[in-house]
Amino acid sequence: MIKLKIDNIEITVPQGSTLLKAAAAIGIQIPVMCHNEKIPNHASCMVCAVKNKQKGEFIPSCEVKATEGMDIDCNTEEVTAFRKDALELLLSDHVGDCEAPCRISCPSFMDIPRMNRLIAQGNFKKALEIVKEEIALPLILGYICSAPCENACRRKQMEGAVSICQLKKFTALEDSKSGSYYLPEKLPETNKKVAVIGAGIAGLSATFHLLKMGYSCSVFEKNAKAGGSLLNLAEEVLPAEILHIETAILRQFGAEFIFNTAVNALDIKKDFDAVLIASGENTKDAALDFSGDGFSTVHEGIFACGSVVKTVKMAVKLVAQGKQAAAEVDAFLSGKSQQYAVQFNSKFAKLKEEEIATYLMESTAEDRIDPSQGRLDGFTAIEAMAEAQRCLRCDCRKASTCKLRIRSDQYGAQQSKYKIAERKTIRKYFQQDILVYEPEKCIKCGLCIKILETHNDLTGFAYIGRGFDMHIAVPFDKSLQLAIAGAAAECIAACPTAALADFNPEENH
Ligand code: SF4
Ligand code: SF4
Ligand code: SF4
Ligand code: FES
Repeated sequence: MIKLKIDNIEITVPQGSTLLKAAAAIGIQIPVMCHNEKIPNHASCMVCAVKNKQKGEFIPSCEVKATEGMDIDCNTEEVTAFRKDALELLLSDHVGDCEAPCRISCPSFMDIPRMNRLIAQGNFKKALEIVKEEIALPLILGYICSAPCENACRRKQMEGAVSICQLKKFTALEDSKSGSYYLPEKLPETNKKVAVIGAGIAGLSATFHLLKMGYSCSVFEKNAKAGGSLLNLAEEVLPAEILHIETAILRQFGAEFIFNTAVNALDIKKDFDAVLIASGENTKDAALDFSGDGFSTVHEGIFACGSVVKTVKMAVKLVAQGKQAAAEVDAFLSGKSQQYAVQFNSKFAKLKEEEIATYLMESTAEDRIDPSQGRLDGFTAIEAMAEAQRCLRCDCRKASTCKLRIRSDQYGAQQSKYKIAERKTIRKYFQQDILVYEPEKCIKCGLCIKILETHNDLTGFAYIGRGFDMHIAVPFDKSLQLAIAGAAAECIAACPTAALADFNPEENH
């Protein structure tokens, strides 16, 4: 047995234990990235670094074994800074978009590439489900959204952005023609009641998300119908019928509308568990102090969003605020803290000329399609499918599981910390319908090489080149198919990033 100190705790571990295992024995979880319990490889990423206090050096805990009398730090600021630095070095050399630029630019964070893929396959219903995860009012926005996503679309630098807004509208219009509206599944009833003041964009959006989270919702509106500022729009901008349909959907989903009723938040608070003021800029509630945190006010249980707090011009921003405010009301009523998804995003500037062909391998070389029935009626099903096929699939295939992303988020790593002169050119290799290999996302952990070495029938991968230019490649002129064939799933699962990824991650899981 070996005696050592980890974070000033004396422990005894069996001979041959790594520091990673020794720390785990006393409940200290050291993050890992290139290490895999089942595959012996060499430590390379240094995300698991700890400090040997006697020698003053940082060592990879996944590889270094505990020795008698060692004194190890796992959790000091110095260790954290070292791990962050190791991540930043890896990121400096990494080329990829975790989330597609269109999605990042959408204030509501709609999963645009996923919607596009589903429309391209003709699965319009599922596409609407993806839209409605983030956007409560896709039909209204289909007419009036200024589409900041299209400005960021990578296809814009070719022959025109993907017509994202029309595609979203198409999914919602198809649903409205189907006779039975799509209503998402609700979480179990909470038996709590929320009053929403104002049936404008932000109020309607918040209502949708609150209903989905299991709250009952009463919407007080001083006008005779829903819409708020939308009611001022001309028929050729937003047909009244559209507003009517989207309100009817909310009513079917369980919203109670109380029209022609002006209420004061402080007065009605006694009858509700929470109140959300979304009454727009014309009806600023002078009696209320909005200077709370986020969407809360100084009055407990009373929240505010939209132009009543600060003028918001962009409709999709109001939709996004309604969703965020609903999440805050939920956090208050349920006592749970708000869950934040991974935020870190690897990104790169424009596609290089030579990368366009690589990206087009996953797309079609068509020009942007304009709806033949005109802008108001939008796409036919055939046009929508063809336009959706123009999407380049910019999002990463392992956006939610990539260890580089998760660790970078955890340590607040900045991709721009170490600038290199010129970024590498993106390449993509496909083993049809099974696997995609993107060398510029490889962190050179060697796990795939080790796996393939155990498969005698395969050519395998090898390291080629040296130093910063070193990369994993199929040796000589062998095909990706020959190199990896039946071991594809194993390599995909072991690869810490999306360098090796499932061709169809959504369909296969
Ligand atoms: S491999 Fe990881 S870090 Fe790189 S783009 Fe994909 S999710 Fe982001
Ligand atoms: S090509 Fe597709 S995934 Fe890429 S930015 Fe445009 S819409 Fe988004
Ligand atoms: S491709 Fe291979 S060496 Fe590169 S990160 Fe994935 S498993 Fe590691
Ligand atoms: S060096 Fe230990 S996890 Fe990468």
